[in-house]
Amino acid sequence: MRLLLLGCTGFVGKELVPQLIQSGHQLTLVSRRLPRGYDAERSDGRLTWLQLDPAQAASWQDSSLQGALSDADGVVNLAGEPIAEQRWTAAHLKILENSRLETTRLLVEAMADLKTPPQVLVNASAIGFYGTSREACFQESSAAGSDFLASLCERWESAAAAVPTGTRLVTVRIGIVIAAGGGALGKMLPVFRAGFGGPIGSGQQWMSWIHRSDLCALIQRGLEDPTWTGVVNGVAPQPVSMNEFARELGRSLGRPSLLPVPGPVLQVLLGDGAKVVLEGQQVQSERLDSLGFSFRYPDLSSALAAATS
Ligand SMILES: NC(=O)c1ccc[n+]([C@@H]2O[C@H](COP(=O)([O-])OP(=O)(O)OC[C@H]3O[C@@H](n4cnc5c(N)ncnc54)[C@H](OP(=O)(O)O)[C@@H]3O)[C@@H](O)[C@H]2O)c1
Repeated sequence: MRLLLLGCTGFVGKELVPQLIQSGHQLTLVSRRLPRGYDAERSDGRLTWLQLDPAQAASWQDSSLQGALSDADGVVNLAGEPIAEQRWTAAHLKILENSRLETTRLLVEAMADLKTPPQVLVNASAIGFYGTSREACFQESSAAGSDFLASLCERWESAAAAVPTGTRLVTVRIGIVIAAGGGALGKMLPVFRAGFGGPIGSGQQWMSWIHRSDLCALIQRGLEDPTWTGVVNGVAPQPVSMNEFARELGRSLGRPSLLPVPGPVLQVLLGDGAKVVLEGQQVQSERLDSLGFSFRYPDLSSALAAATS
C-alpha cells in the first residue's frame, strides 16, 4: 500500500515504520523535524520524508503533502503532543488539544477534497476516553468519561469520524504502551534497575497496557484487513494494578520493587497531569477476539521480559 504517516516519528512510530517498510509498503512520513534515519529507504524511494507540521493549515497547502495524500491508499495518524511529560498549564493544554484535533480535522478535510480519498484511516485515540475508575471495566461500547482527557479523546475521535464515506475508519484507543527506550516503562526502568523502584501513588490504580509490537501489529492489521472498522481498544487481555505492575517489573529485572513513589511528588512535577499516572482505568476489548487478532504478548510477564531483555 502507499501510506501517509502522521505522528509516526515517536515511540510507537519507531517500531511501526520499520515494520511497514519490511512488509513492502511505500511510505510518506510527515514530521516537524528534519529527516533522520531511514537513509537507505529514503535514497531508494521506499520512504519520503516531508518536514511539515500537520497541525498547521498551511502545511496542507503544500503540493508534496497534497500529492502524497491523493496517492495514498491508507493513512495512519498518531500525531499528538506527549500527555504526561510537562506541567499542565493552560497553554500546554491548548497544545495537547491542537496537536490532535487540528491535525485530524485538517487531514480529514483534505481527504474530503479528493476525488478518490484513501481507502482507510487508522487514527489514534487513547483509553483516557473512558475517564478513570478503580471499579469499572470498560470495553469499546462503554461511554466516554467526563474529565479533560476523556473529552479530548472524544473530540479527537469525532474529528476522525468526519472521514469521507468510502474511507474505512479504524480508531485505536491505545493503552499504556510497553517497550524499552520510551513511554511509561522507559521512565520506570532506570529507577527499578537502580533498586529504587516501586508502585507510583496508591498502587491500586489500574494499568491497561499493550506491548508495542502488538500495538504495531494491530495498526498494520487495521490498515490491511478490510473487515476491520470502528473502534478497537489497543490493550492486552490482562490489565493489572500499579502494585502488580511494579511487582512484576521488579521480578523481571531481579530487583526490589518496594519503594513507593508518593503521588504528591508527581503532582508537584506534573500538576493535574499527574492524574494520568495516579489514576487509571481497567480496559478490555470485546472486539479483538472476533476480529481474529491474537497477541504475541498477552500477559505482563512475557511483555516485560521482552521489553527488558
Ligand atoms: N505511548 C503511549 O503509552 C500511548 C498511550 C495512549 C495513547 N497514545 C497516543 O498514541 C500516539 C503515539 O504515541 P507515541 O508514544 O508514539 O507518542 P510520541 O513518542 O510522543 O510521538 C508523538 C508523535 O506526534 C507528533 N507530535 C508531537 N507533538 C506534536 C505537536 N505539538 N504537533 C504536531 N505533531 C506532534 C510527533 O511528530 P514530530 O515530532 O516528528 O513532528 C511524533 O511523531 C500519540 O497521539 C499518543 O497520545 C500513546
